[in-house]
Amino acid sequence: SNAHRIAVIAGDGIGKEVVPEGLRILETVASRFDCAFEFDHFDFASCDYYQQHGTMMPADWKARIGGHDAIFFGAVGWPETVPDHVSLWGSLIQFRREFDQYVNLRPVRLMPGVPSPLANRKPGEIDFYVVRENTEGEYSSIGGKIFPDTEREVVMQETVMTRVGVDRVLRYAFDLAQRREKKHLTSATKSNGISITMPYWDERVEAMAKAYPDIRWDKYHIDILTAHFVQHPDWFDVVVASNLFGDILSDLGPACTGTIGIAPAGNINPERRFPSLFEPVHGSAPDIAGQHIANPVGQIWSAALMLDHLGETTAAEAVVRAIEEVLARPEYRTRDLGGNANTAQCGKAIVDALTG
Ligand code: NAD
Ligand code: IPM
Ligand code: MN
Repeated sequence: SNAHRIAVIAGDGIGKEVVPEGLRILETVASRFDCAFEFDHFDFASCDYYQQHGTMMPADWKARIGGHDAIFFGAVGWPETVPDHVSLWGSLIQFRREFDQYVNLRPVRLMPGVPSPLANRKPGEIDFYVVRENTEGEYSSIGGKIFPDTEREVVMQETVMTRVGVDRVLRYAFDLAQRREKKHLTSATKSNGISITMPYWDERVEAMAKAYPDIRWDKYHIDILTAHFVQHPDWFDVVVASNLFGDILSDLGPACTGTIGIAPAGNINPERRFPSLFEPVHGSAPDIAGQHIANPVGQIWSAALMLDHLGETTAAEAVVRAIEEVLARPEYRTRDLGGNANTAQCGKAIVDALTG
């Protein structure tokens, strides 16, 4: 079969340490399964690039990566040198918006043998997806500041929900729930306090649910939903949320499974008009960057999501099985999971598990 063309962007901090581990897995996949990759590495979308060029990305970034089959991304952000909103709005958020990656798919799974900070939770009891709206909502560029530097200073940033934008992510979430055994969907809302956009979100959920009569669905306000994630994680199957609520839930969920260091994300354009982007949920972790102790599993699981998206489902399943096998062994766990393994030792163990 033809090689999958992958744009590789490591970014900042631990992105530069975990991306090589993800690539090692993909190279192993290529040697074991009937598939091939062509990797093109890019140095933009990083704060180093910003320091050299005064901008996060070249003007022609879209042409340079828009033709690839997928983007394999690490993490971006180095607040010591570039303000976070500048680095993020100049890179990752551009990818999501310009490539219309309107679904951010974030699996949450307690892996066999891994201790959960929640008492007495077993694998299978935490196994759900956060489906996060990824191009609009609370992350809007509509707003501004008036009367700057006066006592009358005012700042505003609008939440934007479009019917097309809400319906398409809901449809994706309901379709996903349809393929799952439990066929259960939960919607995150806050229609008691946010009185225009969130009632609209609820209204669209209710309308969409009519097209999926065999799906059991419910909704919770975001405040109590975070409490239920901790106290009743077994209630959830597919959780659909607006951009900001989905962001919060997709750190909280993985924290309940032991660490955010294992959590993967697919920023997906389901119509495949543009490349989708696969990255860990976590950021550049400046506090541990350079120490080579970062957990590479989030990056490697993201590689599995990418394989699945590319149609390499057998390979994708094999990578997830290899992750499970290794995480079950305390000696290969990184420090965030209470272990002593470094990034490369954990990554290599997963390569070994994959090669049997
Ligand atoms: P973070 O996810 O980078 O780190 C939060 C905490 O989790 C830190 O203590 C870190 O050491 C730990 N951690 C994260 N990933 C880990 C891993 N793989 N292994 C072990 N420990 C891990 O979040 P933050 O500190 O809020 O943000 C740091 C920078 O990253 C900021 O610039 C932020 O904007 C950026 N960020 C980028 C992304 C992204 O690229 N998608 C996501 C989140 C944050
Ligand atoms: C994520 C991150 C980003 C987000 C930040 C870095 C802008 O937290 O991918 O979850 O909020 O989407
Ligand atoms: Mn986040």
